[in-house]
Amino acid sequence: AMSVFVTRRIPAEGLRVLSQASGCRVQQWDSEEPVPRAELLAGVAGTRGLLCLLSDRIDREVLDAAGPGLKVISTLSVGFDHLALDEIKKRGIRVGYTPDVLTDATAELSVALLLSACRRLPEAAEQVKSGGWTTWKPLWMCGYGLSDSTVGIVGLGRIGQAVARRLKPFGVRRFLYTGSGPKPESAAEFGAEFVPLTRLAEESDFVVVTCALTPATQGMCNKDFFGRMKKTSVFVNTSRGAVVNQEDLYDALAQGRIAAAGLDVTTPEPLPTDHPLLSLKNCVILPHIGSATYATRSTMAVLAAKNLLAGLRGEPMPHELKL
Ligand code: NDP
Ligand code: DGY
Repeated sequence: AMSVFVTRRIPAEGLRVLSQASGCRVQQWDSEEPVPRAELLAGVAGTRGLLCLLSDRIDREVLDAAGPGLKVISTLSVGFDHLALDEIKKRGIRVGYTPDVLTDATAELSVALLLSACRRLPEAAEQVKSGGWTTWKPLWMCGYGLSDSTVGIVGLGRIGQAVARRLKPFGVRRFLYTGSGPKPESAAEFGAEFVPLTRLAEESDFVVVTCALTPATQGMCNKDFFGRMKKTSVFVNTSRGAVVNQEDLYDALAQGRIAAAGLDVTTPEPLPTDHPLLSLKNCVILPHIGSATYATRSTMAVLAAKNLLAGLRGEPMPHELKL
């Protein structure tokens, strides 16, 4: 029998794929809340397949607890920074993930977050409720618009390109991007120019971070980076919280070194409700909802289930991570 452990309650469509597969025996942490570490270690013991989430740290301890029978890990995410890939590869375990199917939803949310931050939507909406809205005032609640702007994309991958595609019709004049190297085919659609990170910070009116979290990108948006940005520029991060040095971001926002920020991802998650960043009017923070549409989450769950089954059967996965 193919025994699998699912670390959370997931959209029903995904679970159905597993429960209807012949010979598949599903065990699940059937809760909205993360599986406690001890339950994860117990749950994986002796299992062949693991369907996990980005909130589950899959490291050597988990792999040891699973034992040599573990053949496939399928994550319900496109990001894989929570997986100890070196260790996983060493053990010959295959990995499935969910690229493409969440690109549109995440790019859409990135644009929503950017507009919320640059046009101060949460702050303005709050004024309506608090009575701060007394009359129409020429100099009140002004922000920065995309028209004629320069947008810098940090990581012009699937989501980065989808963000640029959506922002272009707002009248963006120029796109910059950075990454491990120029990608002329991807950049052509936007006439985007490949620049070093420092120049991207200096010249962009909007910085949108859509790269993967890696040792190279960890803490990349730091004091030096924010120090190079213009006072009128807006910073948006929908990648992973750890790409940003949050103390440096706080200082930049609090001292007016940059205009505003929009974050869908933080360290830690959830961000403690007394975190300094939450005291700032010019910082919009969302609870990691980039891919959160009903349709997308359902599609992700089905894809993650199909990846897992294909891996267990020794077939090609719909989306396998090349290790
Ligand atoms: P891709 O792999 O298509 O894109 C990742 C990009 O990161 C690549 O273009 C890569 O550029 C870039 N990158 C790698 N190293 C660097 C570097 N040193 N500096 C700058 N850029 C770098 O992935 P996706 O677009 O599908 O997803 C990107 C990330 O978004 C995921 O890894 C995940 O963490 C996050 N995400 C967040 C969501 C949310 O809910 N907020 C939802 C979905 C994803 P290059 O090719 O040049 O190496
Ligand atoms: C991912 O897939 O990596 C996102 O963070 C959640 O969809």
